[in-house]
Amino acid sequence: MDGTFSENDISRIVEADRANVWHHLIQHQPFETAIDPRIIVEGKGMKVWDQKGKEHLDAVSGGVWTVNVGYGRESIADAVRDQLVKMNYFAGSAGSIPGALFAEKLISKMPGMSRVYYMNSGSEANEKAFKMVRQIAHKRYGGKKHKILYRDRDYHGTTIACLSAGGQDERNAQYGPFTPGFIRVPHCLEYRKHEQNGAPLENYGEWAANQIEEVILREGPDTVGALCLEPVTAGGGVIEAPDGYWPRVAEICKKYEILLHIDEVVCGVGRTGTWFGYQHYDIQPDMVTMAKGVASGYAAIACLVTSEAVFDMFKNDPTDPMNYFRDISTFGGCTSGPAAALANMQIIEDEELLDNTNNMGAYMLDKLNALAEKHVVIGDVRGKGLFLGAELVADRTSRDPADEKKVQAVVGNCMAQGVIIGATNRSLPGKNNTLCFSPALIATKDDINHILDAVDTALSAVFS
Ligand SMILES: Cc1ncc(COP(=O)(O)O)c(C=O)c1O
Repeated sequence: MDGTFSENDISRIVEADRANVWHHLIQHQPFETAIDPRIIVEGKGMKVWDQKGKEHLDAVSGGVWTVNVGYGRESIADAVRDQLVKMNYFAGSAGSIPGALFAEKLISKMPGMSRVYYMNSGSEANEKAFKMVRQIAHKRYGGKKHKILYRDRDYHGTTIACLSAGGQDERNAQYGPFTPGFIRVPHCLEYRKHEQNGAPLENYGEWAANQIEEVILREGPDTVGALCLEPVTAGGGVIEAPDGYWPRVAEICKKYEILLHIDEVVCGVGRTGTWFGYQHYDIQPDMVTMAKGVASGYAAIACLVTSEAVFDMFKNDPTDPMNYFRDISTFGGCTSGPAAALANMQIIEDEELLDNTNNMGAYMLDKLNALAEKHVVIGDVRGKGLFLGAELVADRTSRDPADEKKVQAVVGNCMAQGVIIGATNRSLPGKNNTLCFSPALIATKDDINHILDAVDTALSAVFS
């Protein structure tokens, strides 16, 4: 750390934070009596430094899978600065130079897709997709085909409509009543199939997809407009759907004319080793939402990308004054977002970070499996690319989840060792037992060894 803040300065910052800032996802009482709020002062590559000057290796890309190209990227900062002094903002009813260039570049990575709608957060992107589904229902189906299916354990954002599409009961708790018209389908976590009635020993993927069809038939296919799924479930436990799942999902959507909306807010732009998570599975979505890694947190940008067929439904009758997507996002017109996103994508290409993600992801998966041989508390290891999870269990035979306090103790122990890892947190009642790893796409073998050495030590300390 370059010592930008003197000790006095930084204690003033800590006090200002303690007195005035309301942090996300954290209880504040301990700040009054026991601990200081954590201030992250600086970052470089995969490392961050806190207010005490303590160095941490960040294995979760900014806490929530975001800083995919690592900290301190001057090319992104320069691109944003240059753009802001030339033209910082105009409402999205007009275009901008970086907006047009990034849309063109993004579409070149997404065969079969054609239109990019800009906004600022993953929640907002998903809300807009839901609005499109509803408007299509009104325009074409007399309002009837308006229901949106979402999956148990998936998360799509923090707003009330996104929570209505939220498959994480603990995260939703105390925020109801929710928006009508969102219908849950079962999860596809093979490791926990013993908890699902009728799940077979073989062909679980196909069975899990067929559960979606059962829900559609129960609700009435003429009432269901869209199916919204994460390509790899993130906060619900890092879940990759088993073989046989995605082809069946695509078939079902086609059969009942249901739009397939893939939420790439976490997986999008490289995290799993392809540009988009869905591209592992040979499926063609109608709508794709993305946010976190689009500009690696250097600017707030999210995108909703649609096929031309979806776009066309909003432009096919210019004589109708209501026949367009009547939506606005004020800050969707900020040019810093696409300027940062262009520079971010350039880094991924120049440094061949998709290849690195595949190579380092495979390396990390092997190392996690080796850790599972040593620690019986690791019941399952899973994930894709540099997006991996290790589910901790009290007992391998019953697969009962490990005590959540102990799971959090593992995270705390790693933090004390200077390594930041994650864990599912207040998402699923009694099942917040998965350690989460999502290092930046620049991770090296040394970084991964460092991360997993800390996990090894922490597991020994907490579970011995
Ligand atoms: C899969 C998924 N979708 C949507 C969101 C919401 O994104 P945001 O926090 O940018 O609104 C998240 C956030 O973690 C997410 O994990």
